[in-house]
Amino acid sequence: MALIKKFRIKTFKNEEPIVDLKNISVFFNKRQILNNLSLKINKQEILGILGPNGVGKSTMFNLITGLKDPNYGEIIINGVNCTKLPINERFTKFKIGLCPQFGGYISDLSLIDNLKLVSEIHIKDKDQREQKINKLIGQFEFEPLLNIKAKHLSGGQKRKCSIAMALVNDPKILLLDEPFSALDILSIKMIQEIILNLQSTEEITIVVTDHQARDLLKTVDRAIILSYGKIIASGSPNEVISDRTAQNQYFGDEFNIN
Ligand SMILES: Nc1ncnc2c1ncn2[C@@H]1O[C@H](COP(=O)(O)OP(=O)(O)O)[C@@H](O)[C@H]1O
Ligand SMILES: [Mg+2]
Repeated sequence: MALIKKFRIKTFKNEEPIVDLKNISVFFNKRQILNNLSLKINKQEILGILGPNGVGKSTMFNLITGLKDPNYGEIIINGVNCTKLPINERFTKFKIGLCPQFGGYISDLSLIDNLKLVSEIHIKDKDQREQKINKLIGQFEFEPLLNIKAKHLSGGQKRKCSIAMALVNDPKILLLDEPFSALDILSIKMIQEIILNLQSTEEITIVVTDHQARDLLKTVDRAIILSYGKIIASGSPNEVISDRTAQNQYFGDEFNIN
């Protein structure tokens, strides 16, 4: 297994953000989940969203994709106010790829049939479809696994399958919801490498969530920490780790990523 590439885009100054969440509040019934939260996601960065279970990480993805409407606030993507835009239009117009925390594939279809299925949805031309699938097979080293049903793949292979499926339409924004959870160490490294290589080879913005910090912070340019509906810290991995509030409310005293 190759070492994780230390490729980082250092500055996003003067760039228009690709996603701009403005003063978002979200309630489920009467319970407030997000409280006047604002976040800009820069083009081609890898942003980590950290926070304990139930804090609202998946909800933030649902806001970006349109699966959940905010009670207050606006969602701007590529400079367009799309707060009221339905899911399908957002996915195609802004090229969003979502890799959900669980599933993302059809369990009873083989790996190759899962790839064919999504490519038939997104790519009209047969030759282009085949080219895309072959590229993903090469990139993800899927050759020996092609005819295995998704439900029989290992945890890491399932995760790779759903990431590959999310990449079929060449997303500009890739949302990965807890891609490291319940994986062994080698599979985590494999997914980290995939994320970093995607950033270095494709023009893509990647947002990754996790409830545990260690694996995520090794992969991202910038992280935010969510706590009780607010962003309590934001910055490079080193900046958030040394942030006093984040230490008190999330990391604890003894945290380090080495
Ligand atoms: N459809 C829903 N109905 C009611 N409560 C929900 C719904 N979806 C999420 N929640 C609640 O919103 C909070 C945030 O959920 P979520 O975004 O999934 O958290 P995370 O991804 O950080 O674990 C949780 O407390 C969860 O119970
Ligand atoms: Mg979640």
